[in-house]
Amino acid sequence: MNFPAGPTGGAVLAMLGCWVLAVTATVCQGQTTFTSFHPERREWAFNHLTVHQTTGALYIGAVNRVYKLSGNLTLMVSHDTGPEDDNKACYPPLIVQPCSEPLTSTNNVNKLLLIDYSQNRLLACGSLYQGVCKLLRLDDLFILVEPSHKKEHYLSSVNQTGTMYGVIVPSHGQDGTLFIGTAVDGKQDYFPTISSRKLPRDPESSAMLDYELHTDFVSSLIKIPSDTLALVSHFDIYYVYGFASGSFVYFLTVQPETPENSMSSGGSSNDLFYTSRIVRLCKDDHKFHSYVSLPVGCVRNGVEYRLLQAAYLAKPGRVLAASLNISTTDDVLFTVFSKGQKQYHQPPDDSALCVFTMKDINARIKERLQSCYQGEGNLELNWLLGKDVQCTKAVSYRVNTRTHARTHTHTHCWVSTCSAPKRRVE
Ligand SMILES: *[C@@H]1O[C@H](CO)[C@@H](O)[C@H](O)[C@H]1NC(C)=O
Ligand SMILES: *[C@@H]1O[C@H](CO)[C@@H](O)[C@H](O)[C@H]1NC(C)=O
Ligand SMILES: *[C@@H]1O[C@H](CO)[C@@H](O)[C@H](O)[C@H]1NC(C)=O
Repeated sequence: MNFPAGPTGGAVLAMLGCWVLAVTATVCQGQTTFTSFHPERREWAFNHLTVHQTTGALYIGAVNRVYKLSGNLTLMVSHDTGPEDDNKACYPPLIVQPCSEPLTSTNNVNKLLLIDYSQNRLLACGSLYQGVCKLLRLDDLFILVEPSHKKEHYLSSVNQTGTMYGVIVPSHGQDGTLFIGTAVDGKQDYFPTISSRKLPRDPESSAMLDYELHTDFVSSLIKIPSDTLALVSHFDIYYVYGFASGSFVYFLTVQPETPENSMSSGGSSNDLFYTSRIVRLCKDDHKFHSYVSLPVGCVRNGVEYRLLQAAYLAKPGRVLAASLNISTTDDVLFTVFSKGQKQYHQPPDDSALCVFTMKDINARIKERLQSCYQGEGNLELNWLLGKDVQCTKAVSYRVNTRTHARTHTHTHCWVSTCSAPKRRVE
């Protein structure tokens, strides 16, 4: 998997099962030599890589380690994250409360590796202890904080990469926001599938990773309803990629299809059909009313490619921009899909690289919301409500929503734009 870095020089790759990183160092007389960097142990695979936009330093999140390398792959610093004694069944995690389950030496798989540019720090989350995170100094990977005393500090212990993604939305001169989407592995009562968290400038702040909004009636999170698990017992949402563009935050997911009527399928995970989706939220929507999603995939010679493997947002070069009829300042989304819809866990080798323009994606989302607003179709969010809510005309829908405020406030047909970005003078 190789994606072009954007013009900013920043690059983020999801590296599934990758254990060697190599750069072409010299090419002379037809001979190519490579500089390479290997993890300490072959089985401690690299999970994530991010390149600093200005320093060019590489940060790698691996099993049990976070590494900082220079652009020529010289190791500069290494930070240990595992293995540690743990048991997935310990909830709350044993660092908070003693646990009667047998503890075994457990690998810490890197789940999230994001540079918080506004505060010069690296957010690294792992799979140990129900998924705790560390904030590390970018310079030397010195640990600034490892919040672990509140429920909000556990993000999910799933130890598979490609299941969780995060997006940092900075706020000028204010605390930032972290959007997180994660697989929950049947623990839908504990972990939201998607949420937005506070990312205070002060690493010691007691509000670190708190939900942006959390009240009895409305919160900055969505949980998978138990009804959905009753319908499709292996239901989960896997977050492959995420990014911010314009006034929105997007995630690319893979999830099992849920039946449209309430016929229980209950089948094993091998029988499930998976579908990839793009999820969109307004950056400033603390109530998650703007949640909307669309299926994504591509077709070539009548063959469908619908299992998302990786994605990357970038600006197009001049030739690509011209062929897509967009400008070189517009965002494009490069995606790799595997063939079919069934083999999520062992995707077939047959794959396709597809390019989407964000303009196109936003236009499709707008169409969907507008047709819903006019009372046609539905938002295809049946996983969220057990069965999907039919779209109704906006006026009656508003009334309807008010009476159901306690139960299902997530699907709102009329949210098609975000409020104008607030301008602050610093
Ligand atoms: C690699 O980069 C580092 C820092 O940029 C530099 O100090 C070092 O000499 C370089 N090593 C090689 C082999 O080029
Ligand atoms: C993830 O957990 C499973 C069992 O829970 C284990 O078999 C597997 O080795 C773990 N993966 C890693 C990379 O440690
Ligand atoms: C190219 O885009 C412009 C505006 O963005 C539009 O008016 C025009 O019809 C498009 N051309 C093609 C061939 O799609």
